[in-house]
Amino acid sequence: MCGIVGAVAINNVVPILLEGLQRLEYRGYDSAGLVVSHEGLQRLRTTGRVLELQKLAETQQVHGYAGIAHTRWATHGAPSERNAHPHFSGSKEQNSRIAVVHNGIIENYESMRERLQNEGYWFVSDTDTEAIAHLVASNLKKIPDLLEAVCASIAELRGAFAIAVMEETRPDKIVVARNGAPLLLGLGASGNYAASDVSALLKATKNMIYLEDGDVAELTNIGYRIVNCQQGEAVHQVERTVHETQLSSEAIELGPYAHYMQKEIFEQPSAVANTLEMVLNAQSISPNLFGSEAENIFAQTRSILILACGTSYHAGLVARYWLETVAGLPCNVEIASEYRYRDPIADAGTLVVSISQSGETADTLAAMNYAKQLGHPYSLAICNVAESALIRQADLRFLTRAGPEIGVASTKAFTTQLASLLLLTATLAKMRQKLSTETELRIIADLRHLPVAIQHALQVEPQVKAWAKSFAQKRHALFLGRGVHYPIAMEGALKLKEISYIHAEAYAAGELKHGPLALVDSEMPVVAIAPNDQLLGKLKSNLQEVHARGGELYVFADADAQITPGENLHVIRLLEHGGLLSPILHTIPLQLLAYHVALERGTDVDKPRNLAKAVTVE
Ligand code: M6R
Repeated sequence: MCGIVGAVAINNVVPILLEGLQRLEYRGYDSAGLVVSHEGLQRLRTTGRVLELQKLAETQQVHGYAGIAHTRWATHGAPSERNAHPHFSGSKEQNSRIAVVHNGIIENYESMRERLQNEGYWFVSDTDTEAIAHLVASNLKKIPDLLEAVCASIAELRGAFAIAVMEETRPDKIVVARNGAPLLLGLGASGNYAASDVSALLKATKNMIYLEDGDVAELTNIGYRIVNCQQGEAVHQVERTVHETQLSSEAIELGPYAHYMQKEIFEQPSAVANTLEMVLNAQSISPNLFGSEAENIFAQTRSILILACGTSYHAGLVARYWLETVAGLPCNVEIASEYRYRDPIADAGTLVVSISQSGETADTLAAMNYAKQLGHPYSLAICNVAESALIRQADLRFLTRAGPEIGVASTKAFTTQLASLLLLTATLAKMRQKLSTETELRIIADLRHLPVAIQHALQVEPQVKAWAKSFAQKRHALFLGRGVHYPIAMEGALKLKEISYIHAEAYAAGELKHGPLALVDSEMPVVAIAPNDQLLGKLKSNLQEVHARGGELYVFADADAQITPGENLHVIRLLEHGGLLSPILHTIPLQLLAYHVALERGTDVDKPRNLAKAVTVE
């Protein structure tokens, strides 16, 4: 993970580097650092957050016209100042240092380190990044141009990474390279920039170039040049399209909210409305929503394989129920990191659907490519980031228009993924003649109503907040659901553990008596998702089993589910019955529960420990 920023401008770049790092902090926040060139390379590093780095920069009055900066999610080496980026090679005395920041993993760093140590380079950190700095320094001895030396260096490195490099003797330029990890350039009136994602540069420019794998770019304050150094090919200069980003800097401001997670929970009505915009005014569902090739590809689709991680995987699990029930399509849902190392049997009639908020999750990307290699001809990406690798690599695509999701805990990305997956289900069902016009119109009407229904679901917040007080004292929790709501229980448990650090597990309620019931006592809160569907009767029996053993039940029920509150049985009713959309509506109170419990416990809601937003490493 990690976030990197680089800038060369006609004015001091420290503010833009710090602003960029703040925007990228969601990618990792174990330490932060920067280097600017001002009478040599000036370096600042801290194990604190970017705010700490900003204070250091102010007190030490650091400034310069070119610089690179980094916010870290530790992979090689503990979070410490010694391991914080930028890393140097070379000597201060001779003014000959190379500085490097890096996002990703260098897989051959051990052999590289050994080789460079044999060449006489001295390592002072435990990181793989330091090997890059020494490698570039070593290549510079043979190839005096920094861009060309970086090209030669990346040809020797294995793994997925993005780097930015500065040379002490050339304070007027930076060189950046992309190989499997996101990196873009920003072209501005007062300078040129590079960053891991667009949000980092919005204050400086809207004109972006998305680099491709093997691209190495040299930036000065008046221009840039890009070459491509793919392994096995001759180095050649390339032109890349300049895009004007539609993202506004307001979209990434916190506004009146206390946390991004809170903002993003409450943005869900508009996020879903934006995602479904093309459908909301339509009278029928069309495969073209998924790309011009969709009709042809969907006509050949006999089954679905969903690949995703974390919350996106939970969205896939919900979709399986919909695809089987509404579209009559067999569906497998696989954790991407597991799928990519199995030997599954490919089927040419299977459409591979990858789901990802970021579109940069390394496991999901690798699993999608692996599925293709195995012989699955077509893929569809459901993703929230238009310029992401996932979107670029898939044959078909559907963009969830949730807007930037900054809180590490995924909220609006999940509900917009679910809305998209329901749309996909209806489209496939229609093409397979499984959808009567009446049902199609009902699904469109339900989707049209969804933003309002979510608004209603948000109204239970005061009741959830009241529960959060006692919940926050607990050390463990169980989440129960049945059928299509079982993945919603899984998502509720993930949200709670991720941001409140309470250990939470989800079970299909029918599984309780096969083992987990042994955990139930008065100290174990049990959260149940209890919509009024055909499984409610069975779920109620499961709840009785908990109640009889002294467990304390917290039940989220539909407006019309007959569950009466009593001793150790707390009930919150949603304002409406969700029907097909019920999993989406039942997600909302679970997000609120996790959020308020985390507030009670005083955790860092948007940046929970040990995690990062975009998981771009294996
Ligand atoms: O960007 P992606 O949707 O591919 O990310 C997948 C997971 O890393 C992500 O959903 C993670 O589980 C969330 N932090 C959960 O809230």
